[in-house]
Amino acid sequence: MANMSRREALGWLGGAALGGVLAGVGVASAGDGMAAKPGAPGLKDEPGTLVWTPHRLDAGKCQPVAYAGYWHKGYGCCYGSFHAIIGTMGEQYGAPYSNFPFHMMEVGKSGISEWGTICGALLGAASAMALFWGRKERDPMVTELFRWYERTAFPIYDPGAAAQGAAGPLPTHVPGAVLCHISVSGWCQAAAIPADDVRRSERCARVTADVTAKAIEIINAKIDGTFAPALKSQAEATCASCHGAGKVSPVLKGRMDCTPCHSGGRAVTDKFHDHP
Ligand code: HEC
Ligand code: HEC
Repeated sequence: MANMSRREALGWLGGAALGGVLAGVGVASAGDGMAAKPGAPGLKDEPGTLVWTPHRLDAGKCQPVAYAGYWHKGYGCCYGSFHAIIGTMGEQYGAPYSNFPFHMMEVGKSGISEWGTICGALLGAASAMALFWGRKERDPMVTELFRWYERTAFPIYDPGAAAQGAAGPLPTHVPGAVLCHISVSGWCQAAAIPADDVRRSERCARVTADVTAKAIEIINAKIDGTFAPALKSQAEATCASCHGAGKVSPVLKGRMDCTPCHSGGRAVTDKFHDHP
């Protein structure tokens, strides 16, 4: 990376939508035909400049890669899903896919540097989609993936003899939310397994494989022209009818299902007073 010239970097990045993220390698510069407001700092992040071409993948072949990627150097879920998608394209088609600095995706591990925000497997998959599709095309794909995640009992994938953490079936739990914190802590509570237990890591490695397969299903359908978003959130629709833009209380940001946090469930009541 360090000995790569700016021209080389620009060449293999192909003007990808990573200008902001990769500003350190000199991608974030004005010019090259980009229209920008006078005086505004230029970023090569216009969807129209995307040149990476998506390829159909075999989800069954990518799942073991995602699972193994999770364990590889402890890189975790975000690297695991992203690398299983883009790295597999690199295996099959070479550059530019194979030149991606995959290690950077480790940042998404445990909800971004251990913060428990977005599930890293979802961040990795959404990032892979973002290499090929700008937000207008991508947002419905991401929404389909995230809605599916909210309501799926994880884990599904079983690595069999390739298990690296713990072999055999694991307890399953529906996360209800796309956040690492809710997904992991909810599973640990339901399964009575500590968050630092190797079975919890195993669970997340399998979830990484599950998310990868669903993302590939969506990507393949998009490539085929058959992608049709189907999953809706009743809670989002109901609550947004008053908290959405232009409504009586227009303060809502985001599309997460409201239920886990605004249902008055036991986990979200006051724990700062009279708590065991
Ligand atoms: C019929 C309209 C309507 C619907 C539907 C609605 N809200 Fe509200 N909500 C309001 C109004 C009005 C307020 C008060 C806003 C203010 O104080 O400015 C409010 C306040 C809130 C607040 C902050 C104050 C409080 O009482 O906690 C939250 C959180 C909230 N709503 C969440 C939700 C969620 C989640 C849903 C869906 C289950 C929902 N709302 C559905 C109208 C609605
Ligand atoms: C991951 C948990 C989570 C999810 C999911 C979530 N919220 Fe919230 N929401 C919060 C928290 C925490 C606050 C800040 C509450 C506070 O300030 O006391 C908040 C604030 C709000 C407020 C402003 C209320 C206030 O008094 O600050 C509204 C309205 C609201 N949420 C509606 C929704 C709706 C509608 C959805 C679903 C589309 C939703 N939220 C999804 C956790 C969540």
